[in-house]
Amino acid sequence: MTELVVRELRGLEILDSRGRPTVLARCVLASGASGRASVPSGASRGAAEAHELRDGDPRRHRGLGCQRAAAHVGTTIADAVVGRAFAGQAAFDAALLALDGSSSLTYLGANATLAASLAFARAAAAAARQPLYAYAAGLVAAPHTPRLPRPMINLFSGGKHAGGQVPIQDLLIVPQADSMAAILEQATAVFHCAAERCATRYGMRLLTADEGGLAPPFPALEAMFDDAGEAIVRAGLRPGRDVRLAIDVAASHFATADGYVLRDAPLTSRQLIDQLARWAADYALASIEDGLAEDDWEHWPALCTQLGDRLVVIGDDLLCTNPGRIARARDARAANGLLLKVNQIGTLSQALHARQMAAGAGWQLVISARSGETEDDWLADLAVGWAGDQIKVGSVTQSERLAKYNRLLELEAFDGLCLMR
Ligand code: PGA
Ligand code: ZN
Repeated sequence: MTELVVRELRGLEILDSRGRPTVLARCVLASGASGRASVPSGASRGAAEAHELRDGDPRRHRGLGCQRAAAHVGTTIADAVVGRAFAGQAAFDAALLALDGSSSLTYLGANATLAASLAFARAAAAAARQPLYAYAAGLVAAPHTPRLPRPMINLFSGGKHAGGQVPIQDLLIVPQADSMAAILEQATAVFHCAAERCATRYGMRLLTADEGGLAPPFPALEAMFDDAGEAIVRAGLRPGRDVRLAIDVAASHFATADGYVLRDAPLTSRQLIDQLARWAADYALASIEDGLAEDDWEHWPALCTQLGDRLVVIGDDLLCTNPGRIARARDARAANGLLLKVNQIGTLSQALHARQMAAGAGWQLVISARSGETEDDWLADLAVGWAGDQIKVGSVTQSERLAKYNRLLELEAFDGLCLMR
């Protein structure tokens, strides 16, 4: 493999889909090949995520500025990598980790390291004259075929993404069609039927949440499921057959010191599991993400034992794309699916390690965006190259979401990639 010499690395504070700052990096190699990438940002964050560096200056962007993180890319990191030759992505990312020296990137900021890591990846892919998905596939040691992931698409939002009008964060639809084009056609049909239903039932216009999902004031949690089922029927599709439902409970955000409070009702972990089991049965759920809180390690195995053979028990806040937490969950049989968010861990190589662990455990792999996104579409290539079973990007509105879906459409139509059933 030819060594990649970094000629230039720059960082810039840009804005994300919530109008908050984030970081973009540009990397130019000595060969002239270059790449740029920007990083997303979460709102419903796990406590164990790598550190997102914010300026904390209340005079700019309410303290959320990313000038220091951008400067870390363009000065601290650039000083350490410009002029150096790297054997590949692993060597470049190792240099970032060595430079930071902490386990959660508290010095440089995961937003700085991820921007640099992804910009280097894009430059390295360009140097190899490869599309990013092929470069990403080449990083995975075991041979595998890049393939299109099945999207789980946000229909209704609640929790931290929608002002908390319902405690469940996402109700998602999972169209079962066998092409990306058909899946997105069905998803938009369901979305528009759901929007019409919200307008008549709740007098709501198309007000959407952070990820573009509809966020009506559901009178009861079951109404959210029933409205989704009704929208699927109105779109001419069969709930549970053509289109399945899934939820991201994001239970950490309604956990209390001694249990949970779901719409004013106090619940023990056991009672919450029973509630989830009822929904799983009544609505044929395909997956449940963060059904329990991120520190409720004691009860996750019971959730997984009770539901894991019928649906995918996904850990997001629980796992934080962190190999140590994934190992703990694997050994405790606490989950059977990983929600992989690269910025939870801070470099592409560490995220790859998390992916490998999930694959080794036989888990489902869901490659996920964040609620604060940019128009960058690298996530689609990553999901394809790393053979994600699913991709979670948000709704079928808003261009920061559609950038990813449209890239998947392009890869299906022009690059001949297929969905695996
Ligand atoms: P976040 O939420 O990006 O706001 O953390 C996404 C999720 O919980 O899946
Ligand atoms: Zn989540």
